[in-house]
Formats: sequence, structure tokens, C-alpha cells
Amino acid sequence: MKRVLSGVQPTGDIHVGNYVGAMMHFVELQEEHECYFCIVDLHALTVPQDPVELRNKTYELAGIYLAIGLDPQKSTLFVQSQVSAHAELAWLLSCIAYYGELSRMTQFKDKSKGKENVSVGLFTYPALMAADILLYQANYVPVGNDQKQHLELTRDLAERFNNRFGETFVVPEPLIAEVGARIMSLTDPTKKMSKSDEDENGRINLLDSPDVVKKKIMRATTDSESVIRYDVENKPGLSNLLSLYSVMSGMSITDIEKKYEGSGYGTLKKDLVDVVNERLRVIQEKYYGLSREELERILREGRERAEVLAAKTLKDVKEKMGLAMF
Ligand code: AMP
Ligand code: TRP
Repeated sequence: MKRVLSGVQPTGDIHVGNYVGAMMHFVELQEEHECYFCIVDLHALTVPQDPVELRNKTYELAGIYLAIGLDPQKSTLFVQSQVSAHAELAWLLSCIAYYGELSRMTQFKDKSKGKENVSVGLFTYPALMAADILLYQANYVPVGNDQKQHLELTRDLAERFNNRFGETFVVPEPLIAEVGARIMSLTDPTKKMSKSDEDENGRINLLDSPDVVKKKIMRATTDSESVIRYDVENKPGLSNLLSLYSVMSGMSITDIEKKYEGSGYGTLKKDLVDVVNERLRVIQEKYYGLSREELERILREGRERAEVLAAKTLKDVKEKMGLAMF
């Protein structure tokens, strides 16, 4: 069975972009793959976090993992910081990663732009992400489009290590969906929908109430035409709504265009509200039925399973790099 690994940061609000770009696919993949999904709290620390909030968000994300349909019998769910091999391998990989290649990462450039005190962790973030993936010898990594460059770096590091020290790591492949891998902000469709956007109305959170979802979608920025046509360049706002509709309903974009031929944006938006709310209703029902004890039990079991595999890879790497092994 092929192995899958992915991670989500326990920060901000988990939104429909996270869901359709990545998390929804986790649920499909667990049926035929050996899956590992982590809550990457060490990545969250690359920018300042409130400690109480970070811990709460860790529980929240664990609850969301379960609520969207991840099954702890099929997928290993765990917290990154609880498996110390991640931090250790990240150091080893940061010693084979080049300053130049990390400097080219667009996420680093975006997140550090105009900031005075940028942490070193934000810079070495991709080495930690590579460690997350390579520790488990993952074949596939389902992510949104914004992580493509980090995946390429992970592949380069794996190949470099293998060439230098002998076959050690599986070189992972990204799994990036054709539709929905880059959901845009509802208020500014030139920006991606983001957890950290101050403009709350730009994103639909998985835990938003039906009224809030309705308000956000009905107010979403479109254009002054009224033809329902997928055209990212000229109609970015409408095209974004069509992508969301398509992924959430399972209908192709062409079929949606046909269905709404001659209708106005209002009709499409109203139906999209229903499609989104129906999906969120099921998720929220499950989410609010979970207890902290249950989440902790699942994450503890996940950690135990993850540790076995991670320790094996780490030992091999240390041996190959020449670290003392007695
Ligand atoms: P993050 O919120 O950065 O932890 O991202 C978790 C996952 O969601 C990653 O696989 C991202 O690529 C994906 N993701 C984040 N924002 C979006 C978006 N606007 N559209 C599609 N996927 C996204
Ligand atoms: N960097 C990813 C993001 O912000 C999160 C992440 C950390 C990740 N480690 C990973 C994703 C390993 C996939 C695999 O979205």
C-alpha cells in the first residue's frame, strides 16, 4: 500500500480553501493508502502565537480532522511536536539544504515582507516540512497549490541525500487537485483565501454558522456582467465561486455553467449557500459531539504509531551521516 502524509497548521480558522484544496482529499485517500496526518504545531511557532490559543487550536484541528471524516482506524492522526524525530531530522536536513534555495521560497518572501523581526524558524520552515514527509517515506503528499514549491524542495533534498549517502528516502510526489487547489478570497479574488487574513468576510470557516455563510457568499465580489461563465482572468470572483460549487457538489464546472445558463449571479449564490451549508452541517454536527478525552486518546494512539516509523528512518539517517550510534 502506498503511503500518504500531510499536515495542517493549528492556527487561525480552518476554511473551505483548506478543506477543498487539501483536507477533503485526505478523507478519500485513507480508503486505499496508509495515511499519516499531522497537526503541525512546530510550523505554527514560526510566527508569534499565543500559547493558550495555540493549544486550543490544536484540539480544534484534531476535532475537524475527525469531523470531516478521517477515521483513526484507517489514518494515523498525531501532533507533530509530540514526535521528536521531526525536529531532529529537520536539523539534519537543514544542514544539507542551501541558504540560496531556502531564500527563493515564495512563502518565506511573502510572510517576511516588510516585517522587522522575522524568525529563523520561518526561514528554515521548509526543512521541517521536508522532515515531516521524509520521516514516513511518504509516496504522496496531498496539498493545495501554495505548497508546490515546498514539495519540490523536499524532493530535491531527498534526492541530494540519497545521492550523497546512499538510497535512504522515498522521493515523494505532490497530489494537487485540478479544481479547488487554490480557492481565492471572497472579497478580493486576486488573493488566496487565508487563515490569517484580517478580513473575516474573505473566507468561509468550517465552523461558521449557516447565517454567516449566507452573508459571506451573498456579499462575495463578482463582476458587473451577469453571464455565468468560468473565466479566471476576466471573472476571477465568479470563477472562484464556480470552483467552490464544483468541488463541494461534485458537479463539473461545465455542467454548472449549463445549469445556470440565463440565470443571474444571485441564483447561483443562493444555491451555493445551500451546497456549502449542507456540507458544513454534517461536519459541525460531528465536531460538536467530540470530547477532549476522546481527541487526546486518538492523538496519543496516533503518536505511538507515528513514532515507530519515524524512529526507524531517523536511525538510518543518523547512521548514514556518521553520527555516533552506540
Ligand atoms: P495551512 O493553512 O497553511 O496549514 O494549509 C493547510 C492546507 O490547506 C495546505 O495543503 C494548503 O496548501 C491548503 N490551502 C491553504 N489555503 C488554501 C486555499 N486558499 N485554497 C486551496 N488550498 C489551500
Ligand atoms: N506547510 C504546510 C502548509 O502551510 C503545512 C505542512 C507542514 C505540511 N508539514 C507538512 C503539508 C507536510 C504537507 C506535508 O500548508
